[in-house]
Amino acid sequence: MAIDYQELIPNNVDLTDNKVLQRALEHWQPRFIDWWREMGPSDFLASDVYLRTATSVDAKGWASYGAVKMPEYRWGIFLADAVPDRRIGFGDEYGKPAWQQVPGEHRSVLRRLIVTQGDTEPASVEQQRLLGHTCPSLYDLRNLFQVNVEEGRHLWAMVYLLHAYFGRDGREEAEELLQRHSGDADKPRILGTFNEPVSDWLSFFMFTYFTDRDGKFQLKSLAESGFDPLARTCQFMLTEEAHHMFVGETGIGRVVKRTLEVMKELGGDDPAAIRSAGAIDLPTIQKYLNFWFSSSLDLFGAENSSNAASYFAAGIKGRPDESNYEDHTARDAVFELALPEGETGIRSETIALRNAMNEVTRGAYVRDCEIGVKRWNRLIAKAGIGAELTLPSPRFRRAIGAWAGRSVDPGGQPIAAAAWQAQQDHWLPSQSDRDFVRSLMQRVTAPGKMASWIAPPDRGINNLPVEYAYVHLQ
Ligand SMILES: [Fe+2]
Ligand SMILES: [Fe+2]
Repeated sequence: MAIDYQELIPNNVDLTDNKVLQRALEHWQPRFIDWWREMGPSDFLASDVYLRTATSVDAKGWASYGAVKMPEYRWGIFLADAVPDRRIGFGDEYGKPAWQQVPGEHRSVLRRLIVTQGDTEPASVEQQRLLGHTCPSLYDLRNLFQVNVEEGRHLWAMVYLLHAYFGRDGREEAEELLQRHSGDADKPRILGTFNEPVSDWLSFFMFTYFTDRDGKFQLKSLAESGFDPLARTCQFMLTEEAHHMFVGETGIGRVVKRTLEVMKELGGDDPAAIRSAGAIDLPTIQKYLNFWFSSSLDLFGAENSSNAASYFAAGIKGRPDESNYEDHTARDAVFELALPEGETGIRSETIALRNAMNEVTRGAYVRDCEIGVKRWNRLIAKAGIGAELTLPSPRFRRAIGAWAGRSVDPGGQPIAAAAWQAQQDHWLPSQSDRDFVRSLMQRVTAPGKMASWIAPPDRGINNLPVEYAYVHLQ
């Protein structure tokens, strides 16, 4: 379905046919712009940025590219096309028609899930709002802003659902999505990871690789929902989300590549020498990876969750790629969990598969995370270096679930608390690591030039050269 750009709010949901909804959203729109101007990349409001904007929702050619000032970006409401006679694909309601309205008995749960998803979108823009000042290149600066405007659009997607389907409390929730702020002591964002500051570009690339990928899996679960407008909204968001993870994967890959070049020039792997040459040593990259991977794992929730079971049973939230499973009701199936025993033991427990849905989704996420790690390791191997980056065990440094607060080493072995503390600075970025990474964050804005710690990308955006002036700073 084509998107109507004549409207104040571009959309493919026939907003003109619903004047009440249209007015409510047009009332919210200036508040969103105010939020963007204040809490978004506020020092770059006048810059022309080479951005893509969604212009249709079909698989080929859904975006158009051009120079845009970010506050003038056409944030809109786009749902994937409806599937005629769509049926619920899992749980006790399996095979029944998908819901076009919110079933009364699921209203508060659906509202909560939509608010929680919606809250992460502006949160990430807030977390990244100062990064533009230290961009390693104009190419990267443009990618940061592309991610930011699309997270803004994802907020629009969730606000549309709240306004269109949840009446007055939906409108109130939409207001509050602009009132909570990342890291705010009084009104923080809902999920912990989205209150962590993202104040350097290595963290930004880790965030887009690991935390946006959590977003991918949450969206994949919600794209299965029996609530059809939610499913269609999330399906289209996934199209945009893929670019965010591309930014993360290629960003980390380029950092690794630059480090390998410096190691080759130096003929060694001495971290101090690599750092003096302006690159980031592999052990430091590994520590950042450990931090952001473990933080993102918490976003999936507890391993054993009666909420997850009831969302699945009710047809509210499915498994990512539900159609790949044979048994869509998962009524009698079981799941084997590894749980802590005493200080240093591990025991296994069998639980109902429905209760383990968070863990099932987390497992799919971990396998997806492995793909990039393998690519980075191929770069390292090709350079003839005998080192590897690895994902730590999902039990490492958890704050939510059965392993929360446990002392577990990156290999997954529970250890004594004192031993963990003694090793902490080898596994996670220490203050001096963070200070060093921050010291590298110097703004580079000559077209085609890169900061000392990152290799250029293999290609530019939309077939343009890497040297293209992707942002015109004002
Ligand atoms: Fe998003
Ligand atoms: Fe994203």
